[in-house]
Amino acid sequence: MSRGRRGSRVRALEGGREEEAPPEAAAVPSVLLPSAQQPEKAAEQILLRGIFEIGRDSCDVVLSKRALRWRPIRPERPAGDPKFDLPHEEEFIELKDIFSVKLKRRCSSIHQSGTLLGITLFICLKKEQNKLKDSTFDLINLSEDHCDLWFRQFKKILAGFSNRPKSLKILLNPQSHKREATYIYYEKVEPLLKIAGIKTDITITEYEGHALSLLKECELQGFDGIVCVGGDGFASEVAHALLLRAQKNAGVETDCLLTPVRAQLPLGVIPAGSTNVLAHSLHGVPHVVTATLHIIMGHIQPVDVCTFSTTGKLLRFGFSAMFGFGGRTLALAEKYRWMSPNQRRDFAIIKALAKLKPENCEISFLPLKSSQNLQERRTLESRKCDYGDQWQMIQGQFLNVSIMAIPCLCSVAPRGLAPNTRLSNGSMALIIVRNTSRPEFIKHLKRYASVKNQFNFPFVETYTVEAVKVQQKNNMSEHNPEEENGPHGIAPENSFPWNVDGDLMEVASEVHVRLHPKLICLYGGVMEEMNDSKATCSCL
Ligand SMILES: *[C@@H]1O[C@H](CO)[C@@H](O)[C@H](O)[C@H]1NC(C)=O
Ligand SMILES: *[C@@H]1O[C@H](CO)[C@@H](O)[C@H](O)[C@H]1NC(C)=O
Ligand SMILES: *[C@@H]1O[C@H](CO)[C@@H](O)[C@H](O)[C@H]1NC(C)=O
Ligand SMILES: *[C@@H]1O[C@H](CO)[C@@H](O)[C@H](O)[C@H]1NC(C)=O
Ligand SMILES: *[C@@H]1O[C@H](CO)[C@@H](O)[C@H](O)[C@H]1NC(C)=O
Repeated sequence: MSRGRRGSRVRALEGGREEEAPPEAAAVPSVLLPSAQQPEKAAEQILLRGIFEIGRDSCDVVLSKRALRWRPIRPERPAGDPKFDLPHEEEFIELKDIFSVKLKRRCSSIHQSGTLLGITLFICLKKEQNKLKDSTFDLINLSEDHCDLWFRQFKKILAGFSNRPKSLKILLNPQSHKREATYIYYEKVEPLLKIAGIKTDITITEYEGHALSLLKECELQGFDGIVCVGGDGFASEVAHALLLRAQKNAGVETDCLLTPVRAQLPLGVIPAGSTNVLAHSLHGVPHVVTATLHIIMGHIQPVDVCTFSTTGKLLRFGFSAMFGFGGRTLALAEKYRWMSPNQRRDFAIIKALAKLKPENCEISFLPLKSSQNLQERRTLESRKCDYGDQWQMIQGQFLNVSIMAIPCLCSVAPRGLAPNTRLSNGSMALIIVRNTSRPEFIKHLKRYASVKNQFNFPFVETYTVEAVKVQQKNNMSEHNPEEENGPHGIAPENSFPWNVDGDLMEVASEVHVRLHPKLICLYGGVMEEMNDSKATCSCL
């Protein structure tokens, strides 16, 4: 891509200003590609053709079914003048990148609309590292009739994007992180939804579990999607609630749940919590505007979900789980709610490291088979709680165990806590850390920051699985109550805390985790691989 001239054009478009930007400062959005990469033109029907001023140039503008193209109209070039020898390349915007259109008027008094200046298109630009950005694009022409014709045509085109939401139920958790969810929503999200003409119905939750009880009953007819504004715990609660609702509506029994039905509405996740692993994994970046634009553009991804159950009873739906170190760290952090989220997380990690102790467990797992096999087995055994005897079992002393259906990208793990799984390839990662010395364990935790060989340690094992059963074997009567009777009575050793999507789940008996491919649709885009490995953890 040529950067110089094209770059300065983009800058002029984005800012609506006309100064020349230094070429190196301007990013080239992918919507403005050289002609070679343009969408197929031959078959395109021309809808409108006319003259508008774009940037500084008077342009010949053509609107077809897929793109808006323009080329500056220039006077005859004076021969030999190098300044005029630049090729007048055609530029374009794909219509699928437009999310709103407005008539542009000169600012005037409140009671009277100003003189018409032209049309403003609102477009979604792709930036580096999976980020999306909103931008405007002005087509200047002072003729009311001319603009009205084009405006109505753009409206018609926008109405044709039937996968884009027109009405959303917004659930906002005001308690997330440093309580910035409300600010984030009203400052960054709502203005974009308004421009896109999306109707919203907002509930600000008042207590933990509010979203769950609300989604049990509330009328969802008329909404095209649900959006949650908060962190991982909140997003997971809402996903769980949507899936429970779907089972109830379909009359599906949640005990021995082998084949749950899919959630009826797609879910959008606006990252506004202390951990935003779900949003990060979905969009490749925990970025509010990117998440909002994916919702507006109706980008939808099916995502795998796990069920967690014990003795045949469904505990919850979720995307990822840890126990051992990852569970105990969370249990400790919960006792220090008065600290700031980052403070208590670091504090809990240090404390859990100091008390590092393996769990005696029995882990059974069902390795992933080919999907054809899986389908056959599912139909054959759909009336039983178990698949039969293809289970493998390992027993021993484990420091930390992860079971993850999604890659779990986060700042300390740019490739994810489960880098070998994807959002919806029908498998979970089971990652097991066997007992080792504290320094070796810390070395392993730090290796998440790297982009490869994260699990290259003799005490770490990884499996690709579709189901896992975990049975704790710690001998209760060996438990010495004096050992941990600290001032806060922290994390008794015989409790078995799980961390499910950042929420604490304490279960005494066997936990059964099962993967359900593509059970929910989330708003989000397919991301590109990240290369940078600049990740640090403040406390390791
Ligand atoms: C162990 O615990 C840490 C921190 O709590 C977590 O980030 C990590 O993914 C866990 N899993 C494994 C297998 O180390
Ligand atoms: C899911 O993706 C990962 C990474 O590409 C791969 O290792 C794994 O085998 C995939 N699983 C399936 C079922 O395709
Ligand atoms: C775990 O490993 C450490 C260090 O190698 C060792 O001191 C400890 O006894 C082991 N614990 C168990 C329960 O095996
Ligand atoms: C638990 O430990 C006690 C004494 O340490 C022993 O008598 C008992 O048999 C153990 N129970 C199990 C289930 O291993
Ligand atoms: C990652 O590296 C590849 C090749 O080295 C490059 O093409 C790609 O643009 C890079 N991606 C990012 C996000 O930097």
